[in-house]
Amino acid sequence: MSLQQTLVLIKPDALQRGVAGHIINRLAHAHLRMVGAKVVKVSEKLAREHYKSLSDKPFFEELIKYIRGRLHGEEHSGVLAIVYQGEDVIAKVREIAGATNPEQAHPKSLRGAYGRVTTKGQIENVIHASSDPQEAEREIKLWFSPYELTHVIFPVKSVSRNGKKDWRLK
Ligand code: TYD
Repeated sequence: MSLQQTLVLIKPDALQRGVAGHIINRLAHAHLRMVGAKVVKVSEKLAREHYKSLSDKPFFEELIKYIRGRLHGEEHSGVLAIVYQGEDVIAKVREIAGATNPEQAHPKSLRGAYGRVTTKGQIENVIHASSDPQEAEREIKLWFSPYELTHVIFPVKSVSRNGKKDWRLK
């Protein structure tokens, strides 16, 4: 058992369908502690950086449009980014999220319950959850500054920028 943090993104399809509350409820029932949260309008740069390990995949460009909300109308062009903390939280949230493809996800998982595959073949799976400790650290540092979190487990710089602490780069 180890204390971990993980990044959750409640994706534009979940916000459009009004199921963000259901998702947060399910995660709350797992006794996970929320240490940071914000709505983010996702820039092209942030989207590409977040999914950079998938840049050679055939679905990459559609994935970038999806996470930026370009498939769900202007009023849903954001994601709700949340950092959760707890013992083995990375695996716990992945379990609650379910398999990547909603058609293969357990019906009681978040993706099984709320996700879909469109007739065009686009996976809309309502939630992102970090896959492993290295990705969780990279993603949390990408999406959040230390001063936006109520509890910090990764090293920060002792010298602050504009009076605000920043991550110490590896
Ligand atoms: P991936 O990191 O493989 O899965 P997960 O989100 O479960 O960690 O893929 C990232 C996202 O890319 C996934 O949530 C949805 C999208 N995706 C597709 O659109 N088509 C695909 O065939 C795959 C594997 C993923």
